[in-house]
Amino acid sequence: MSTELEQERACALAALLKAGVWDAEGDLQALVEQNFPSTEVLSDRAVKTFRQDVSERCLRIPLGHILGYADFAGIRFVVGSGVFVPRRQSMAIVQWVEKKLNLDRTSKVYDLCAGVGAIGLSISSRLGVGVVCVDKDPTALAYLQRNFYRLGASKYGAIYKSADIMNLAEFQAAAGTVDVVVSNPPYVPEGTTLEPEWSENHPPGSIFAPDEGKGLIEASASVASLLLKPGGTFLLEHSEVQSFQVSMILDGAGFNTVRTLLSEEFSDATGPSVITVGVRA
Ligand SMILES: C[S@@+](CC[C@H](N)C(=O)[O-])C[C@H]1O[C@@H](n2cnc3c(N)ncnc32)[C@H](O)[C@@H]1O
Repeated sequence: MSTELEQERACALAALLKAGVWDAEGDLQALVEQNFPSTEVLSDRAVKTFRQDVSERCLRIPLGHILGYADFAGIRFVVGSGVFVPRRQSMAIVQWVEKKLNLDRTSKVYDLCAGVGAIGLSISSRLGVGVVCVDKDPTALAYLQRNFYRLGASKYGAIYKSADIMNLAEFQAAAGTVDVVVSNPPYVPEGTTLEPEWSENHPPGSIFAPDEGKGLIEASASVASLLLKPGGTFLLEHSEVQSFQVSMILDGAGFNTVRTLLSEEFSDATGPSVITVGVRA
């Protein structure tokens, strides 16, 4: 590594730490790799862009929005301003589906609140099953479409669909035909203060939910209850403090053997990975 790069790295690291970025080393490494393919000769242009990227990160713009991508489940997803950046916490859903369910090409899966498609398209491409990815936000749908084509998801029978999970009627046509429903909906109570990446630099509709955070959890449970065959599985991501409430919601929506799971493997400094799983009665 050149002395110039060592100096750029040291300045950037100090700035990121001062700004309160929780994984300053990891973020720095990603920005260095993006900007300096050669670590020996640094062009003026590359140095300028690197410094702009570091400044943006110090303003707590999410790393994925700066890089233009987020890696999830071994797959690179395109992301950008205006969409939710997938979090490693959601890998708990993908891993659970992979390890516990025997899905095949005939299986039908729905990803409600799909965002850029991280959970649904990972399940589709890793297991070769058709997943219907649903979101209502036009920007999320634009990224979902890009990821869908980049991953060639149609070869597994995956599709994306614009729909509002608050409107049960939009799902009526598929009632009782689905094997698995997954959902990572907005679940943070409105008015909650979060790290600026989420409070200020994500679309509020991807983070905050009405009714003290449970509005879209309840909607996800209702849609899942409608879509699933008897014995079908519902997996929902939520916060740790909502665990009891979520179990009650699933019990009330017609699910049996409801379990909440906390994964150490997929938790990080930004929070624990918590999912609840239920089986449609
Ligand atoms: C927390 S993000 C999760 C995105 C994706 N599942 C992931 O884990 O990367 C929630 C997503 O729900 C979508 N959403 C919010 N309200 C919705 C609704 N009523 N119907 C459908 N999607 C909705 C948002 O647009 C956003 O993309």
